[in-house]
Amino acid sequence: MLKRIFIALAIGLAAPHLSAQVDVQIEALKRLKDIDLEANPAIKKVVLDTLESLRGQAVFVEIVRDFKLPGHEAELLRYAQAHPGDSIGVEAIRLSLNDAGLKRIRDAIDGPHATGTVTALANAQVPEAGPLLLRLAKEAKKPLALRTIAVNGLAKAKPGAQALLAEAKAGRLPADLQFAAGNALRGVRWNNLRAQATKLFPPPQGLGQALPPLAKLVTMKGDIANGEKVFFRPQSTCATCHQVNGRGIDFGPKLSGIGTKLGREALLLSILDPSAGISFGYEAWLLKTKNGAEALGIITSQTDDEVTLKLPGGIAITYKTADITKRTQLPTSIMPPGLQATMTPQELVDLVSYMHSLKQAKP
Ligand code: HEC
Repeated sequence: MLKRIFIALAIGLAAPHLSAQVDVQIEALKRLKDIDLEANPAIKKVVLDTLESLRGQAVFVEIVRDFKLPGHEAELLRYAQAHPGDSIGVEAIRLSLNDAGLKRIRDAIDGPHATGTVTALANAQVPEAGPLLLRLAKEAKKPLALRTIAVNGLAKAKPGAQALLAEAKAGRLPADLQFAAGNALRGVRWNNLRAQATKLFPPPQGLGQALPPLAKLVTMKGDIANGEKVFFRPQSTCATCHQVNGRGIDFGPKLSGIGTKLGREALLLSILDPSAGISFGYEAWLLKTKNGAEALGIITSQTDDEVTLKLPGGIAITYKTADITKRTQLPTSIMPPGLQATMTPQELVDLVSYMHSLKQAKP
């Protein structure tokens, strides 16, 4: 038996271009998994050579797992980064959570493949991932989108959810993470933790009632025509800062084509948590002038001599640089949070459907 398998393996190696042969070879390999490779150096060599030819494929991960082969963390991590959302990708990152792998993973979180790495870690639900995810969540300099993946991953496992809650209670989470943390923790399945989370992060209120969770809101159907009414009615205030096809005040980004830029979830978040993703060029600035005045707005142009600040309401004021004593960029959006409190959950969904339907500016 052993000999037959060995021959199949050897043939496969000699003719790797024949895909049928490769399949035979892999099948043969898988049957060998209970063999002590250290006691069979010839087979070990064939296994390792075969493995080499399978880089980037799911079987690579399976073989490393089945034969408990050490030293393949780099390739496992690469596989996990490329497939962070499937079972084998998650298996790959689990297999790399040893001393050598952890060091690589830490480096990867700071590198160009951060999103794949963090997504795989978040999906892995293993205790070793917890501290890495928590540390990332608290690193205010990292992109919020990345930290949100980390927070959602933490909330999937009880120890992670507990740790996240403890950090939140101690006030150690960055302010911009509050929405994501509240959203994730209010949705956990452990009653006690969920109750504590709901106390700490009261759910955003719609008109007269708490909003359903984000995941539910995203799936609700909306009425586009009614959404348009909600957008333009005075109590929503949207049109005091945004234009759609020339209607409304030109202060924040024009929304005539917003449906091609943002999906439903991102549109919802832009209302529920405006500071989460501040559009480039629309950052909030606070200027202080010599006469003691303060103004909050968006800087629309600046030269060595002058700074022009556009204020909510659409009016622009130009200041002489010499008169400005201090300019500070705020970490928060000028768009106020909590606007959903002027609408029922259904109206909020209608509003999102309306914005999602805006694909192109109309004359
Ligand atoms: C006080 C002014 C103000 C009000 C009121 C306001 N917004 Fe905004 N909004 C902004 C600014 C400024 C930005 C850009 C900065 C940012 O992304 O947070 C923005 C960003 C957005 C974006 C993202 C745009 C993009 O290109 O990514 C959407 C969508 C949006 N607002 C919708 C709304 C809706 C819907 C309402 C009413 C419920 C509303 N806004 C009310 C000022 C406002």
